[in-house]
Amino acid sequence: MPLMRLDDLLKHARAEGYAVGAYDAVDSTFLSAIIAGAESADAPVIVSFAESHFTHYDFPVLMGAAVVAARRARVPVALFLDHGKGLDSAIDAIRHGANGVMADASHLPFEENVATTRAVVEMAHAVGVPVEGELGYVPGVEGEDAVLHPGEMQMTSPAEAVRFVAETDVDFLAVSIGTIHGRMRDESQLDLDRLAAIAAAVSVPLVIHGGTGLTDEQLRSLIAHGVTKLNYYTALSDLAAAAAAAALDPVNAGCTAGIDAVRAVVAAEVARTCEVFGAAGQSTAALAGCRPWQEVEHLVQFNWSADAAGSAADFERQGRAALLAVPGVRDVQLGHALREDARYRRAWFIRLASCEAEGAYMADPAHLKYADAVFRPHAGDRLKIDYRIVQA
Ligand code: 13P
Repeated sequence: MPLMRLDDLLKHARAEGYAVGAYDAVDSTFLSAIIAGAESADAPVIVSFAESHFTHYDFPVLMGAAVVAARRARVPVALFLDHGKGLDSAIDAIRHGANGVMADASHLPFEENVATTRAVVEMAHAVGVPVEGELGYVPGVEGEDAVLHPGEMQMTSPAEAVRFVAETDVDFLAVSIGTIHGRMRDESQLDLDRLAAIAAAVSVPLVIHGGTGLTDEQLRSLIAHGVTKLNYYTALSDLAAAAAAAALDPVNAGCTAGIDAVRAVVAAEVARTCEVFGAAGQSTAALAGCRPWQEVEHLVQFNWSADAAGSAADFERQGRAALLAVPGVRDVQLGHALREDARYRRAWFIRLASCEAEGAYMADPAHLKYADAVFRPHAGDRLKIDYRIVQA
Protein backbone atom coordinates (compact mmCIF):
# COMPACT_ATOMS: atom_id res chain seq x y z
CA MET A 1 0.00 0.00 0.00
CA PRO A 2 1.25 3.47 -0.71
CA LEU A 3 2.37 6.39 1.33
CA MET A 4 -0.82 8.29 2.13
CA ARG A 5 -1.78 11.89 2.85
CA LEU A 6 -1.78 12.45 6.60
CA ASP A 7 -4.62 14.99 6.52
CA ASP A 8 -6.81 12.39 4.81
CA LEU A 9 -5.79 9.64 7.24
CA LEU A 10 -6.73 11.74 10.25
CA LYS A 11 -9.99 12.84 8.62
CA HIS A 12 -10.83 9.17 8.11
CA ALA A 13 -9.89 8.33 11.70
CA ARG A 14 -12.08 11.13 13.01
CA ALA A 15 -15.04 10.11 10.87
CA GLU A 16 -14.74 6.50 12.02
CA GLY A 17 -14.00 7.27 15.68
CA TYR A 18 -10.50 5.87 16.04
CA ALA A 19 -6.98 7.29 16.45
CA VAL A 20 -3.91 6.67 14.33
CA GLY A 21 -0.83 5.80 16.38
CA ALA A 22 2.28 7.92 15.76
CA TYR A 23 5.31 5.93 16.88
CA ASP A 24 8.81 7.42 16.99
CA ALA A 25 11.39 5.37 15.10
CA VAL A 26 14.97 5.64 16.35
CA ASP A 27 16.62 3.17 13.99
CA SER A 28 15.76 0.83 11.15
CA THR A 29 14.74 -1.95 13.57
CA PHE A 30 12.09 0.33 15.10
CA LEU A 31 11.07 1.43 11.62
CA SER A 32 10.44 -2.08 10.33
CA ALA A 33 8.88 -3.16 13.65
CA ILE A 34 6.43 -0.23 13.67
CA ILE A 35 5.28 -1.08 10.15
CA ALA A 36 5.18 -4.83 10.90
CA GLY A 37 3.10 -4.19 14.02
CA ALA A 38 0.65 -2.02 12.07
CA GLU A 39 0.48 -4.68 9.36
CA SER A 40 -0.34 -7.41 11.82
CA ALA A 41 -3.14 -5.23 13.21
CA ASP A 42 -4.17 -4.17 9.68
CA ALA A 43 -4.04 -0.54 10.85
CA PRO A 44 -2.99 2.74 9.24
CA VAL A 45 0.10 4.09 10.97
CA ILE A 46 2.28 7.18 11.32
CA VAL A 47 6.02 6.65 11.60
CA SER A 48 7.43 9.69 13.42
CA PHE A 49 10.94 11.03 13.65
CA ALA A 50 11.49 13.30 16.65
CA GLU A 51 14.05 16.02 16.02
CA SER A 52 15.24 15.57 19.62
CA HIS A 53 16.35 12.03 18.66
CA PHE A 54 18.42 13.10 15.65
CA THR A 55 21.61 12.84 17.70
CA HIS A 56 21.02 9.06 17.81
CA TYR A 57 20.71 8.41 14.08
CA ASP A 58 21.38 9.79 10.63
CA PHE A 59 18.01 11.35 9.82
CA PRO A 60 18.33 11.54 5.99
CA VAL A 61 19.44 7.91 5.90
CA LEU A 62 16.65 6.65 8.18
CA MET A 63 14.03 8.76 6.39
CA GLY A 64 15.25 7.39 3.05
CA ALA A 65 14.73 3.88 4.43
CA ALA A 66 11.30 4.91 5.75
CA VAL A 67 10.18 6.05 2.30
CA VAL A 68 11.11 2.62 0.90
CA ALA A 69 9.43 0.82 3.80
CA ALA A 70 6.26 2.92 3.53
CA ARG A 71 5.91 2.30 -0.19
CA ARG A 72 5.96 -1.45 0.21
CA ALA A 73 3.91 -1.60 3.42
CA ARG A 74 0.62 -3.51 3.39
CA VAL A 75 -1.07 -0.71 5.38
CA PRO A 76 -1.37 3.05 4.76
CA VAL A 77 1.63 4.92 6.16
CA ALA A 78 2.46 8.58 6.73
CA LEU A 79 5.96 9.87 7.60
CA PHE A 80 6.10 12.64 10.16
CA LEU A 81 8.57 15.08 11.68
CA ASP A 82 7.83 15.02 15.43
CA HIS A 83 8.75 18.00 17.64
CA GLY A 84 10.31 19.99 14.79
CA LYS A 85 12.03 23.11 16.08
CA GLY A 86 10.94 25.51 13.34
CA LEU A 87 11.07 26.46 9.69
CA ASP A 88 14.50 25.07 8.77
CA SER A 89 13.74 21.73 10.41
CA ALA A 90 10.44 21.47 8.55
CA ILE A 91 12.02 22.30 5.17
CA ASP A 92 14.72 19.72 5.80
CA ALA A 93 12.31 17.00 6.91
CA ILE A 94 10.07 17.52 3.88
CA ARG A 95 13.15 17.41 1.64
CA HIS A 96 14.06 14.00 3.05
CA GLY A 97 10.57 12.50 2.81
CA ALA A 98 8.22 13.73 5.56
CA ASN A 99 4.63 14.28 4.44
CA GLY A 100 3.54 15.83 7.72
CA VAL A 101 5.45 18.04 10.15
CA MET A 102 5.11 19.30 13.69
CA ALA A 103 6.15 22.83 14.57
CA ASP A 104 6.77 22.60 18.30
CA ALA A 105 7.02 26.05 19.81
CA SER A 106 4.81 25.17 22.77
CA HIS A 107 7.51 26.23 25.26
CA LEU A 108 7.34 29.82 23.93
CA PRO A 109 4.85 32.54 24.90
CA PHE A 110 1.60 32.46 22.90
CA GLU A 111 2.53 35.14 20.34
CA GLU A 112 5.95 33.59 19.65
CA ASN A 113 4.40 30.15 19.38
CA VAL A 114 1.95 31.57 16.83
CA ALA A 115 4.72 33.29 14.82
CA THR A 116 6.97 30.20 14.70
CA THR A 117 4.12 27.86 13.86
CA ARG A 118 2.64 30.25 11.29
CA ALA A 119 5.97 30.45 9.41
CA VAL A 120 6.10 26.64 9.17
CA VAL A 121 2.46 26.48 8.05
CA GLU A 122 3.00 29.02 5.25
CA MET A 123 5.93 27.08 3.84
CA ALA A 124 4.41 23.62 4.37
CA HIS A 125 0.98 24.43 2.96
CA ALA A 126 2.60 25.89 -0.16
CA VAL A 127 4.13 22.46 -0.77
CA GLY A 128 1.03 20.48 0.26
CA VAL A 129 2.23 19.26 3.66
CA PRO A 130 -0.05 19.44 6.73
CA VAL A 131 1.24 20.85 10.02
CA GLU A 132 0.67 19.97 13.68
CA GLY A 133 1.06 22.79 16.19
CA GLU A 134 1.04 22.49 19.98
CA LEU A 135 -0.60 24.76 22.49
CA GLY A 136 -0.09 24.25 26.21
CA TYR A 137 2.93 22.32 27.40
CA VAL A 138 3.38 18.55 27.88
CA PRO A 139 6.40 18.09 30.15
CA GLY A 140 8.61 15.04 30.66
CA VAL A 141 8.72 13.43 34.09
CA GLU A 142 10.88 10.34 34.00
CA GLY A 143 12.62 8.06 31.50
CA GLU A 144 14.64 8.50 28.37
CA ASP A 145 12.82 11.49 26.96
CA ALA A 146 11.97 13.36 30.15
CA VAL A 147 15.07 15.54 29.99
CA LEU A 148 14.03 16.71 26.51
CA HIS A 149 10.81 18.17 27.87
CA PRO A 150 11.78 20.15 30.98
CA GLY A 151 9.44 22.46 32.84
CA GLU A 152 5.95 22.52 34.25
CA MET A 153 2.78 21.27 32.66
CA GLN A 154 0.62 23.98 31.14
CA MET A 155 -2.91 22.97 30.28
CA THR A 156 -4.36 24.13 26.97
CA SER A 157 -7.04 26.78 27.26
CA PRO A 158 -10.02 26.17 24.91
CA ALA A 159 -10.34 29.91 24.18
CA GLU A 160 -6.64 30.20 23.31
CA ALA A 161 -6.91 27.06 21.19
CA VAL A 162 -9.53 28.79 19.01
CA ARG A 163 -7.23 31.80 18.54
CA PHE A 164 -4.18 29.61 17.94
CA VAL A 165 -5.86 27.58 15.19
CA ALA A 166 -7.26 30.72 13.53
CA GLU A 167 -3.95 32.62 13.67
CA THR A 168 -1.67 29.75 12.61
CA ASP A 169 -3.97 27.77 10.26
CA VAL A 170 -2.54 24.49 11.64
CA ASP A 171 -4.11 21.27 10.39
CA PHE A 172 -3.86 19.37 13.69
CA LEU A 173 -3.58 20.61 17.25
CA ALA A 174 -1.59 18.91 20.03
CA VAL A 175 -3.07 19.74 23.41
CA SER A 176 -2.03 19.46 27.02
CA ILE A 177 -4.76 17.98 29.22
CA GLY A 178 -2.74 16.01 31.77
CA THR A 179 -0.46 13.63 29.83
CA ILE A 180 3.33 13.69 30.15
CA HIS A 181 6.23 12.61 27.99
CA GLY A 182 8.10 9.56 29.25
CA ARG A 183 7.35 7.23 32.14
CA MET A 184 4.52 7.89 34.54
CA ARG A 185 5.10 8.11 38.30
CA ASP A 186 1.39 7.79 39.12
CA GLU A 187 -1.72 7.36 37.06
CA SER A 188 -2.25 10.51 34.97
CA GLN A 189 -5.13 12.76 35.90
CA LEU A 190 -6.66 13.54 32.55
CA ASP A 191 -8.86 16.62 32.22
CA LEU A 192 -11.40 15.12 29.82
CA ASP A 193 -13.83 18.02 30.23
CA ARG A 194 -11.11 20.36 29.00
CA LEU A 195 -10.42 18.03 26.08
CA ALA A 196 -14.11 17.91 25.17
CA ALA A 197 -14.32 21.71 25.36
CA ILE A 198 -11.30 22.09 23.03
CA ALA A 199 -12.73 19.50 20.62
CA ALA A 200 -16.02 21.39 20.53
CA ALA A 201 -14.30 24.73 20.00
CA VAL A 202 -11.86 23.93 17.17
CA SER A 203 -12.48 22.16 13.88
CA VAL A 204 -9.08 20.48 13.45
CA PRO A 205 -8.17 16.93 14.61
CA LEU A 206 -6.61 16.79 18.08
CA VAL A 207 -3.34 15.12 19.02
CA ILE A 208 -2.11 13.75 22.33
CA HIS A 209 1.59 13.51 23.17
CA GLY A 210 2.76 11.24 25.93
CA GLY A 211 0.75 8.09 25.22
CA THR A 212 3.05 5.91 27.34
CA GLY A 213 1.76 4.89 30.74
CA LEU A 214 -1.89 5.67 30.12
CA THR A 215 -4.26 2.80 30.82
CA ASP A 216 -6.14 1.30 27.90
CA GLU A 217 -9.29 2.79 29.36
CA GLN A 218 -7.71 6.26 29.47
CA LEU A 219 -6.51 5.90 25.89
CA ARG A 220 -10.00 4.92 24.74
CA SER A 221 -11.60 7.81 26.58
CA LEU A 222 -9.17 10.27 24.95
CA ILE A 223 -10.34 9.00 21.57
CA ALA A 224 -13.98 9.15 22.63
CA HIS A 225 -13.40 12.81 23.57
CA GLY A 226 -12.02 13.81 20.16
CA VAL A 227 -8.38 12.66 19.82
CA THR A 228 -7.37 11.28 16.40
CA LYS A 229 -3.57 11.07 16.61
CA LEU A 230 -1.85 9.42 19.58
CA ASN A 231 1.92 9.75 20.04
CA TYR A 232 3.61 6.79 21.65
CA TYR A 233 7.31 6.20 22.21
CA THR A 234 8.75 5.60 25.70
CA ALA A 235 6.95 2.29 26.20
CA LEU A 236 8.50 1.04 22.94
CA SER A 237 11.92 2.21 24.07
CA ASP A 238 11.62 0.60 27.53
CA LEU A 239 10.34 -2.69 26.10
CA ALA A 240 13.15 -2.65 23.53
CA ALA A 241 15.81 -2.04 26.20
CA ALA A 242 14.53 -4.88 28.37
CA ALA A 243 14.24 -7.28 25.42
CA ALA A 244 17.72 -6.45 24.16
CA ALA A 245 19.23 -6.83 27.64
CA ALA A 246 17.59 -10.24 28.04
CA ALA A 247 18.60 -11.47 24.59
CA LEU A 248 22.15 -10.18 24.36
CA ASP A 249 24.72 -12.80 25.11
CA PRO A 250 28.22 -11.70 24.10
CA VAL A 251 29.60 -15.19 24.65
CA ASN A 252 27.14 -17.41 22.80
CA ALA A 253 25.34 -15.00 20.44
CA GLY A 254 26.11 -11.75 18.64
CA CYS A 255 24.15 -8.54 18.56
CA THR A 256 21.58 -9.82 16.07
CA ALA A 257 19.81 -11.69 18.89
CA GLY A 258 19.21 -8.31 20.54
CA ILE A 259 18.05 -6.72 17.28
CA ASP A 260 15.58 -9.56 16.65
CA ALA A 261 14.26 -9.32 20.20
CA VAL A 262 13.75 -5.55 19.86
CA ARG A 263 11.91 -5.96 16.56
CA ALA A 264 9.57 -8.55 18.06
CA VAL A 265 8.59 -6.57 21.19
CA VAL A 266 8.20 -3.25 19.37
CA ALA A 267 6.01 -4.84 16.67
CA ALA A 268 3.88 -6.57 19.32
CA GLU A 269 3.34 -3.35 21.30
CA VAL A 270 2.48 -1.39 18.15
CA ALA A 271 -0.06 -4.07 17.17
CA ARG A 272 -1.53 -4.08 20.69
CA THR A 273 -1.91 -0.30 20.82
CA CYS A 274 -3.43 -0.18 17.33
CA GLU A 275 -6.17 -2.43 18.77
CA VAL A 276 -6.63 -0.11 21.75
CA PHE A 277 -6.74 2.97 19.50
CA GLY A 278 -9.48 1.35 17.39
CA ALA A 279 -7.25 1.55 14.30
CA ALA A 280 -6.96 -2.23 13.87
CA GLY A 281 -8.78 -3.50 10.80
CA GLN A 282 -9.14 0.01 9.32
CA SER A 283 -6.46 -0.14 6.67
CA THR A 284 -8.61 -1.12 3.67
CA ALA A 285 -11.24 1.51 4.46
CA ALA A 286 -8.53 4.13 5.05
CA LEU A 287 -6.90 3.27 1.77
CA ALA A 288 -10.18 3.64 -0.09
CA GLY A 289 -11.06 6.92 1.64
CA CYS A 290 -7.68 8.70 1.47
CA ARG A 291 -5.51 10.08 -1.31
CA PRO A 292 -2.08 8.61 -1.89
CA TRP A 293 0.89 10.93 -1.49
CA GLN A 294 2.09 11.99 -4.90
CA GLU A 295 5.52 13.32 -5.76
CA VAL A 296 6.33 15.12 -9.02
CA GLU A 297 9.31 14.77 -11.30
CA HIS A 298 10.13 18.09 -12.94
CA LEU A 299 12.13 17.21 -16.03
CA VAL A 300 13.97 19.90 -17.99
CA GLN A 301 15.86 18.74 -21.06
CA PHE A 302 18.11 21.38 -22.60
CA ASN A 303 21.21 22.38 -24.50
CA TRP A 304 23.58 25.06 -23.31
CA SER A 305 23.92 27.75 -25.95
CA ALA A 306 27.29 28.29 -27.62
CA ASP A 307 28.01 31.41 -25.52
CA ALA A 308 27.78 29.33 -22.30
CA ALA A 309 30.54 26.96 -23.40
CA GLY A 310 33.20 27.92 -20.84
CA SER A 311 30.72 28.47 -18.01
CA ALA A 312 28.41 25.45 -18.29
CA ALA A 313 30.01 23.52 -15.41
CA ASP A 314 29.79 26.58 -13.18
CA PHE A 315 26.16 27.21 -14.20
CA GLU A 316 25.38 23.58 -13.35
CA ARG A 317 27.02 23.87 -9.92
CA GLN A 318 25.06 27.04 -9.21
CA GLY A 319 21.86 25.32 -10.31
CA ARG A 320 22.31 22.35 -8.01
CA ALA A 321 22.91 24.56 -4.97
CA ALA A 322 20.12 27.05 -5.69
CA LEU A 323 17.45 24.52 -6.61
CA LEU A 324 18.09 22.03 -3.81
CA ALA A 325 17.51 24.79 -1.25
CA VAL A 326 13.97 25.52 -2.51
CA PRO A 327 11.29 24.26 -0.06
CA GLY A 328 9.50 21.20 -1.42
CA VAL A 329 12.48 20.11 -3.57
CA ARG A 330 13.54 16.57 -2.65
CA ASP A 331 16.38 15.98 -5.07
CA VAL A 332 18.23 17.71 -7.88
CA GLN A 333 20.14 15.59 -10.38
CA LEU A 334 21.83 16.59 -13.59
CA GLY A 335 22.10 14.21 -16.53
CA HIS A 336 24.58 14.27 -19.39
CA ALA A 337 23.21 12.48 -22.48
CA LEU A 338 24.78 9.10 -23.12
CA ARG A 339 24.96 9.74 -26.87
CA GLU A 340 26.55 12.64 -28.73
CA ASP A 341 23.63 12.93 -31.14
CA ALA A 342 20.92 13.21 -28.46
CA ARG A 343 18.34 15.90 -29.19
CA TYR A 344 19.03 17.36 -25.73
CA ARG A 345 22.50 16.90 -24.24
CA ARG A 346 21.56 17.87 -20.68
CA ALA A 347 18.65 17.29 -18.31
CA TRP A 348 17.68 18.46 -14.85
CA PHE A 349 15.76 15.82 -12.87
CA ILE A 350 14.12 17.68 -10.04
CA ARG A 351 12.06 15.61 -7.61
CA LEU A 352 9.35 17.66 -5.89
CA ALA A 353 7.52 16.59 -2.74
CA SER A 354 4.02 16.98 -4.18
CA CYS A 355 1.87 18.51 -6.94
CA GLU A 356 1.49 21.64 -4.79
CA ALA A 357 5.30 21.83 -4.48
CA GLU A 358 5.53 22.21 -8.25
CA GLY A 359 3.56 25.48 -8.11
CA ALA A 360 5.61 26.73 -5.17
CA TYR A 361 8.84 25.83 -6.94
CA MET A 362 7.88 27.73 -10.09
CA ALA A 363 7.20 30.88 -8.02
CA ASP A 364 10.11 30.53 -5.58
CA PRO A 365 12.43 33.58 -5.61
CA ALA A 366 15.67 31.51 -5.44
CA HIS A 367 14.51 29.34 -8.33
CA LEU A 368 13.45 32.39 -10.38
CA LYS A 369 16.74 34.15 -9.68
CA TYR A 370 18.73 31.22 -11.04
CA ALA A 371 16.30 30.64 -13.92
CA ASP A 372 16.15 34.28 -15.03
CA ALA A 373 19.76 35.31 -14.47
CA VAL A 374 21.62 32.13 -15.44
CA PHE A 375 19.63 29.29 -16.91
CA ARG A 376 17.07 30.74 -19.33
CA PRO A 377 19.47 33.22 -21.01
CA HIS A 378 21.91 30.38 -21.76
CA ALA A 379 19.56 27.45 -22.35
CA GLY A 380 17.00 28.75 -24.84
CA ASP A 381 16.73 25.32 -26.44
CA ARG A 382 14.82 23.36 -23.83
CA LEU A 383 11.79 21.25 -23.03
CA LYS A 384 10.07 21.08 -19.64
CA ILE A 385 7.60 18.41 -18.53
CA ASP A 386 6.22 17.63 -15.05
CA TYR A 387 5.25 14.08 -14.21
CA ARG A 388 3.15 12.92 -11.27
CA ILE A 389 4.85 9.86 -9.87
CA VAL A 390 2.27 7.10 -9.67
CA GLN A 391 2.83 4.69 -6.78
CA ALA A 392 2.55 1.00 -7.62
P1 13P B 1 5.68 9.01 25.26
O1 13P B 1 7.15 8.78 25.07
O2 13P B 1 5.32 9.43 26.63
O3 13P B 1 4.88 7.84 24.78
O4 13P B 1 5.31 10.24 24.31
C1 13P B 1 5.66 10.16 22.96
C2 13P B 1 5.39 11.46 22.29
O5 13P B 1 4.56 12.22 22.66
C3 13P B 1 6.21 11.76 21.09
O6 13P B 1 5.89 12.98 20.55
